[in-house]
Amino acid sequence: MGNNTQSGGDSQRTERLTKTKASVNIRDLGVNAMNGQILNALRECGGHLSGQTLSQRLGVSRVSIWKHIRSLTRDGYAIQASPRGYRLVSSPDLLFPYEFPDLEQRIHYFRQIGSTMDAARELAKRGAKEGTIVIAEAQTCGRGRLTRQWLSPQGGIYFTIILRPRISPAYAPRINLMTALAVATTIRRLFGLEAELKWPNDVLISGKKVCGILAEMDAEMDVVNFVNVGIGINVNNSVTRFEKTATSLKQVLGREISRKEFLSALIAEIEERQPLLMKPALLKEWKELSATLNREVRVVSLGEEIIGQAIDIDSTGALILKDRKGSPKTVLAGDCVHLRE
Ligand code: BTN
Repeated sequence: MGNNTQSGGDSQRTERLTKTKASVNIRDLGVNAMNGQILNALRECGGHLSGQTLSQRLGVSRVSIWKHIRSLTRDGYAIQASPRGYRLVSSPDLLFPYEFPDLEQRIHYFRQIGSTMDAARELAKRGAKEGTIVIAEAQTCGRGRLTRQWLSPQGGIYFTIILRPRISPAYAPRINLMTALAVATTIRRLFGLEAELKWPNDVLISGKKVCGILAEMDAEMDVVNFVNVGIGINVNNSVTRFEKTATSLKQVLGREISRKEFLSALIAEIEERQPLLMKPALLKEWKELSATLNREVRVVSLGEEIIGQAIDIDSTGALILKDRKGSPKTVLAGDCVHLRE
C-alpha cells in the first residue's frame, strides 16, 4: 500500500468513466438484473434446472435464458448445460452488482478504474443519491490520505460510498471514525480477529494496517453537500515484502475469503451505524477498539510534529494529546505513528 507508481491524467480518467458508465448503467442494467435472478434460482435449487423451468419462473423466453447463461459464463461462472438443464458449478469471487440484489440499483461497478473516488465525485456532483456505491476490482491510480498512493491489485476490496449527512462540516471526521469502526466490527464478527483502530481512520490487525479510509467532503460553511468515503481493504491480495506495516485478511487467516460476503456484511454495518453518527455511543465504541489511545504517538499535522501520549478524542473526532511537557494539544487531522505503549 502507498507506493502505486501508475498514473493517469484527470481528463483521461473522466473520459474512461463516462464511457464505462454508459455501458454499465444504461446498456447492462436489465441484463444484470436477470443474471442475478438466474443465479438465485440455480443456487436455491442446488442441482439442475431446465431452460423451460427457468423461462417460466422468470417470465422470459428460453432463448433469452440461454443468452443470460452465456453472459454469466463470460463473467466467469461455471454453468454446466446438459439434457437435465443448467447447473451452477462455481462462481468467481467478483463483486458484480447482481451479486448484491438489495443494493444492485445503486452500485456502479468497474473491472478496473483510475480511482473510485473520481467516479464517486462525478456522480455526487451530478446529484447521485445517498448510498450510491462505486466498486472496482482494481484501481490504476488508487489514492490514499495525504496525497499518498494506494496500491489496488485484484483481490482487494476498493469502493467509495456517497453519504449526504445532515451535520455541520466540523463533525465530518466522525464519519471516518464510524466507517473504521464498521470495518473493524465486520472483521471481528466474521473472523473473530481482534481488529483495532488507529486514529484517524486505519484498521489494524496485530499492529499492521489491513484497511485505509479516505473521506472527501464537498461542503459550504455550515452545510455538507456530500462526503465520499473511500475504503480500501487488503483481502485476498498479498501485500509485498516492502510493505512492512501492512497485512491482508488472507495473510492473517491463511486462506482466501468470500469478498462478496465480506462486502455485504460491511455495507450493512455502515448503513446500520449511519443514524448513530452523532450519538455519544460512537465515540465510546471507537475508544474501546482504539489502539492509539494510552500510547505514545508522533503526529504530524500542518507541518508541525507533536510527540506525546494520546489521551482522548473529542466530539469532533480530533485527537487529544499530552505533549512531552505535559501540555494538552488537540489535533484535527494528521499522520499518526504509534510509538511505545
Ligand atoms: C489511506 O489509508 O491512506 C486511505 C486509503 C483509501 C483507499 C481507498 S480504495 C477505494 C477508494 N479509492 C481510492 O482511490 N482510494 C480509496
